[in-house]
Amino acid sequence: MDKLLITGGRPLAGEVRVSGAKNAALPIMCAALLTEQSLRLDNVPRLMDVRTMGKILALMGVEVGAQDNGHLELRAREIKDPTAGYELVKTMRASVMVLGPLLARCGRAKVSLPGGCGIGARPVDQHIKGLQAMGAEIVLEHGYMNASAKKLKGARIVMDVVTVTGTENLLLAATLAEGVTLLENAAREPEVVDLANCLKAMGAKIEGAGTQTIHIEGVRTLSGAAHRVMPDRIETGTFLAAVAAAGGKVKLTGAAPDSLASTVEKLKEAGVKITAGGDWLEAEMTGRPRSVSLTTAPYPGFATDMQAQLMAMNCVAKGKAEITETIFENRFMHALELQRLGADIQIHGNTAMVTGVDKLQGATVMATDLRASASLVVAGLVAQGETLIDRIYHLDRGYESLEKKLSGLGVRIARIK
Ligand code: EPZ
Repeated sequence: MDKLLITGGRPLAGEVRVSGAKNAALPIMCAALLTEQSLRLDNVPRLMDVRTMGKILALMGVEVGAQDNGHLELRAREIKDPTAGYELVKTMRASVMVLGPLLARCGRAKVSLPGGCGIGARPVDQHIKGLQAMGAEIVLEHGYMNASAKKLKGARIVMDVVTVTGTENLLLAATLAEGVTLLENAAREPEVVDLANCLKAMGAKIEGAGTQTIHIEGVRTLSGAAHRVMPDRIETGTFLAAVAAAGGKVKLTGAAPDSLASTVEKLKEAGVKITAGGDWLEAEMTGRPRSVSLTTAPYPGFATDMQAQLMAMNCVAKGKAEITETIFENRFMHALELQRLGADIQIHGNTAMVTGVDKLQGATVMATDLRASASLVVAGLVAQGETLIDRIYHLDRGYESLEKKLSGLGVRIARIK
């Protein structure tokens, strides 16, 4: 397994281009299932999860082109086998988003239940409930969802919890259902809006994406389209948190500043000087950050995917921070690793009390999930001496060439095979 070796203590300096958003690219790739014409995507990040989604679609008979400099073309001329098997689904829960489009396109699907995940139980009951409301029969057997629907019908669906991929799965399905679907208590994440924009380019009739009520009028068929994936707001926020912790001055280009307002606000509170334009942000930090407390919430609240990175920054801040995680039940695993670097963190249920220390000491630590790995990188940038991060395949799932981007900012970092 690859490791990352970071020598901390140097401020970041320079300019880096943000990649396309993983959590927009994945549902948008599933949209290719809804038409027999080509879906031509740009700004697609080179990530393990994108490759996995490509494999899952290719196994169904979708023509998946080679990724070339952000460009990716998909074409589901016909769907030979509407199945997503356990071997691939267990490595990436977002695979469950093929269920809605397969039912809409070919009336049947066999998709493995995602199974467990480090950060929480992450059930898919809302995905199932919504599709059943549209007329799908879904039988759970031998770890699979066996789904069928002669023709999906529009329905009014009130989601019990705000779920991002649940909203996206149902949005995908509703575009080809007969009649009108109302998704209430829908997720408002920018990635949901990006998916809706792509679907509209394909001919879907969608109103209200980005609000808590999405209105979809089903159409008979959808055509191919060209779509540019939005910038990754979590990668952007991760770099900002790195500057906050390690200091320096960095310009991020190819970004979408408005999509990470809650993170920018928190980092300004911590003392980072941040300016922004249409597609760029610049962050400058000297001295230690101030502690900032936060509570994660669905968009536009503070993103749970930024919680670990802000915890890392708080480890070296001046003061005490209270971090409350309300979305997932086990998303503090990074705290145990940060403590190995000398962090002072007390966990009480879903709240972590972080008391800033003057210095972290480099050590060997282990990545446990995607954003936990990012928080260990942030801590390694500021820790004294060498930090060796193990199991960085977690990182490779969601960050495109992170070590290259960081060394471009003057960081001493190397991947150890
Ligand atoms: C998406 O996951 C993201 N993944 C996650 O990013 C992100 O952390 C999460 O949204 C929250 O923002 C993708 O978009 C591919 P949820 P998702 O359904 O959709 C409960 C990353 O780091 N729930 O919004 O799986 C669930 O247990 C990843 O890039 C149900 O109870 O998350 C959780 O407590 C990690 N029933 C809450 O809702 C359901 O049917 C929010 O989960 C679905 C969800």
